[in-house]
Amino acid sequence: MTRVLHATTELFPWVKTGGLADVTAALPEALADIGVDARTVVPGFPAIMAALGDASPVYEVAGLFGTATMRVLHGFLPNRKTAVYVVDAPALFQRPGNPYSHPTGGDWSDNLLRFAMLGWAAAKLAAGELDRQWRPDVLHVHDWHPALAHAYLAEAWPPVKTVFTIHNIDYPGRFPPHDYGRLGLAHWLAAPYGPLEFFGDLCFLKAGVLLAHRVTTVSPTYAEEISLGKHGGGLDAIVRSRDDRLVGILNGVDYGTWDPRHDTHLPTTYDPHDVTGKTICKAQLRQHFALADDTAGPVFIVVSRLNWQKGLDLVVNATETLVAAGAQLVVVGSGDGHLEWQFRQLQQRFPRQVGVHLGYSEPLAHLAMAGGDALLMPSRHEPCGLTQLYAKRYGTLPVVQSVGGLADTVDHHSGFTFDEQFTSLSDVIQHVVHVHHDRTRWQQMMMTAMRQNFGWESSAYAYLRLYQELQG
Ligand code: ADP
Ligand code: GLC
Repeated sequence: MTRVLHATTELFPWVKTGGLADVTAALPEALADIGVDARTVVPGFPAIMAALGDASPVYEVAGLFGTATMRVLHGFLPNRKTAVYVVDAPALFQRPGNPYSHPTGGDWSDNLLRFAMLGWAAAKLAAGELDRQWRPDVLHVHDWHPALAHAYLAEAWPPVKTVFTIHNIDYPGRFPPHDYGRLGLAHWLAAPYGPLEFFGDLCFLKAGVLLAHRVTTVSPTYAEEISLGKHGGGLDAIVRSRDDRLVGILNGVDYGTWDPRHDTHLPTTYDPHDVTGKTICKAQLRQHFALADDTAGPVFIVVSRLNWQKGLDLVVNATETLVAAGAQLVVVGSGDGHLEWQFRQLQQRFPRQVGVHLGYSEPLAHLAMAGGDALLMPSRHEPCGLTQLYAKRYGTLPVVQSVGGLADTVDHHSGFTFDEQFTSLSDVIQHVVHVHHDRTRWQQMMMTAMRQNFGWESSAYAYLRLYQELQG
């Protein structure tokens, strides 16, 4: 049985800022379903510590990275069959807010040490030095935060293979080099042209890309884009140098959480055989946002981090057209202050046609998926994207730019694609409203979307094949 240790900062439902949490929660469980012994190492953030039941310490040390004590606990989180190792370092992780920044915004000033600690623990677990009862065949590192694990393994050469998954190359994990001496890593790793050095800074993602045995990203098209330098953020040459080891494996959907057949956030359930429940969800969504309920046009939704990558300025610019075309817009999102302000302004201007929730809300995200007709996701880059896949299962047709994982998952039978170089979002929205009038065609597209299967099984097998290939 293949043993795999996943390393991540986010794990749904306890710690989540985006799709990473959904993936790292679902993938180990999907691997377990196909016979892999999968475990996960996470920082002891408050929500994780609170949810962790009886857990046994497998390791304890004082003074590491300036912490009084650090323990590694082994246990289970509720409703999960795969075990976790929790890095219980209260001085670094027992903090309010999201994993990376203050509740008031702004990254924690000691993030270098915080995530070095996670990488160190992942590497030592992978080397079999922390839990004498278990060590993995493969260490699978997600995104830049735990990526120093590769550096900690670089000189030890334990018999473990490593996979580094890029969930978003726009977040490279860059730090000024002055605290490098505190990390306990060899000098050469951060010397000019070393695997950690990037224009005089330390770059966690670069270390992952250069030192892992295999590099993956979360869709085949994004793999191609980042190695062609389309969204490399300056790291494209580094990625290209590992081209032969880069593979794109599409994310899956956890239909246990995202399916209108049994979604407990909804006023009623529905399925492709009977979609009347969707009308009830739409009424509730409109009611929640005090939107007019006598509008015949479609309800467009946005459920997203609000930033430039997601192309939400395009939505801001297209909203007047959307309203003029007889449609409505519901936005559930948070992020960039200017975009938040712009959406708030639009809501004030069109109170009966535009509803806005600024902030993170799991229940509203589900209600919007069910109550909407079409999801707007005009991302400029999208490594994979999960919301377009969730939307399909709820019969809400995705409207996407044809990039990254969106290009791999949305076609004209089950959604709408465009390229902002040739078509404006306003034009696409008018087209969608037009198609929505054709009830037979719309219903057909809904049925196609709802019946597609983006479950985790085939992606879990793809990862398993990769692990087995590495094990030889
Ligand atoms: P990304 O990881 O780039 O943000 P994904 O589409 O992969 O994009 O995943 C986004 C995840 O975050 C989805 O689970 C989506 O429902 C969730 N999400 C985004 N914004 C919000 C919000 N404001 N409230 C609740 N969930 C949100
Ligand atoms: C990142 C990407 C998103 C992807 C998610 C999970 O946050 O922006 O496209 O779906 O990771 O892999």
